Amino acid sequence: PVGAGAEMRQGAGGETHQVAGGDVVTLTTAQGAPVADDQNTLRYGARGPALLEDFHFREKIFHFDHERIPERVVHARGYGAHGYFELTDSLADVTRADIFQRVGERTPAFVRFSTVAGSKGSFDLARDVRGFAVKLYTKEGNWDLVGNNIPVFFIQDAIKFPDMVHAVKPAPDREFPQAQSAHDNFWDFISLTPESLHMIMWVMSDRAIPRSFRFMEGFGVHTFRFLDADGHSTFVKFHWKPKKRLQSVVWNEAVKINGADPDFHRRDLWDAITSGDFPEWELGVQLFDQAFADTFTFDVLDPTKLIPEEELPVRIVGRLVLDRVVDNFFAETEQVAFCTQNVPPGIDFSNDPLLQGRNFSYLDTQLKRLGSPNFTHIPINAPKCPMAHFQQDGHMAMRNPIGRANYEPNSWGAAGGPREDPVRGFRSFAAEETGPKTRLRPESFADHYSQARQFLISQTPIEQKHIGDAITFELSKVERPDIRARLVSHLRHIDEHLAATVANGLGLPLPEPAKAARPTITGLPPS
Ligand code: HEM
Repeated sequence: PVGAGAEMRQGAGGETHQVAGGDVVTLTTAQGAPVADDQNTLRYGARGPALLEDFHFREKIFHFDHERIPERVVHARGYGAHGYFELTDSLADVTRADIFQRVGERTPAFVRFSTVAGSKGSFDLARDVRGFAVKLYTKEGNWDLVGNNIPVFFIQDAIKFPDMVHAVKPAPDREFPQAQSAHDNFWDFISLTPESLHMIMWVMSDRAIPRSFRFMEGFGVHTFRFLDADGHSTFVKFHWKPKKRLQSVVWNEAVKINGADPDFHRRDLWDAITSGDFPEWELGVQLFDQAFADTFTFDVLDPTKLIPEEELPVRIVGRLVLDRVVDNFFAETEQVAFCTQNVPPGIDFSNDPLLQGRNFSYLDTQLKRLGSPNFTHIPINAPKCPMAHFQQDGHMAMRNPIGRANYEPNSWGAAGGPREDPVRGFRSFAAEETGPKTRLRPESFADHYSQARQFLISQTPIEQKHIGDAITFELSKVERPDIRARLVSHLRHIDEHLAATVANGLGLPLPEPAKAARPTITGLPPS
């Protein structure tokens, strides 16, 4: 529509276009020079060659040529929205984290949901894990809870992450299949990595084809620590529970939706928020101490395990509401950089070997993806609390230290910039660690089947059938019979009926159970 006061003009080429005037602003170059003609390059004669002197043309094309940045190495396809977290139950007794002190207080939040394996242009209803990454702009620094919609993970140690991701992405020679898990490489890796089987049961369940982001749970997965003002530690697992509860589609709906509307999930989120139906989740915590952790046969540091809610109920402490779509997808959703190591005072890590690796990986990849160590200067990543430090320079520096001093200690007094604060400042839990330097995995990480079975039997009969159907369908896409058989040999340790159903569906003789129900872990001396 023509803005008030603007007019339509005929251009040099006979075309009609709108010009500035009234409330229609003047187009400028990136340097701010007003532009008179955005339709034609500057030429030597009307039919002559283009002139290098045309700075407007050169600047415009140069910028366009550099518009793309690398997509995320995983979770490339995502969709984000703004909102807030509101505390409903104070956790002041267990953590000094500012966000958990005052009931009723709201903290701004940005959330990005994603699929994991597909590229940026892939479809929304893939059978896949969904990312559920939350950035909370607390008064004592950003807290990123970078979670998934499944409470456990494929691998126990971050050193396996590149292998796992290579296996799930398209094969390197043919660059297909793109369809997520339906893949010889993926099932080859999984069948050789029995620690992944618990998560596989979730990924083959209806949870992996959610109806919408609004009907998904979210999980911090790892065991984290809360620290109180005295440095006393409480273990914590984080849960997001959707107010609308859980809903999924069935596989044949997913296939149709992917064909008809690959943007189904992002459209759903956009439509819900812009129509005022704000999606909402409750934040829940499972709090426990070492003595409680010691009552389990599995290890609370093992990210392939969860703590059953029957054993430790989830305490609801707040709510997350998404009430604003982004102004610009690239500036916000694409440039947002979540990182597990972004924690405020009062929240700390456990020794989970997956979490420890993640803490390195995100910052590292984001330097590559966003191109400069100054990506915290981008508004979506910048804290909303006061910040002061001596980091300076580098590409795209927007906020350098002001004044004479860019180091400390210094003797410039108040003019010398910020200083450390032993009381307010972040302190790690003073854990006492002993033991040899080793790559051995503890025996407490060795049971890969019990919780897979627990998950299966927690499902209704129709949900259990969906799991069997999904595994049969996925394995039917696997060409090598030995990979199919190897996977079924593990299923026998989870549930004989499931193994028989899948073998039957594939026309396979039932293979022997995989060698060890508690497989010998590489490097462990025989017991
Ligand atoms: C991205 C979750 C394990 C490396 C993401 C994202 C989520 C996520 C939600 C998308 C963030 C966004 O929306 O921008 C998880 C969960 C894990 C896990 C829940 C296990 C519990 C790992 C591990 C590594 C890793 C073990 C590496 C050692 C990455 C990388 C990205 C990513 C490199 C891309 C980040 C970016 O480019 O901004 N992860 N992840 N993740 N994850 Fe993980």
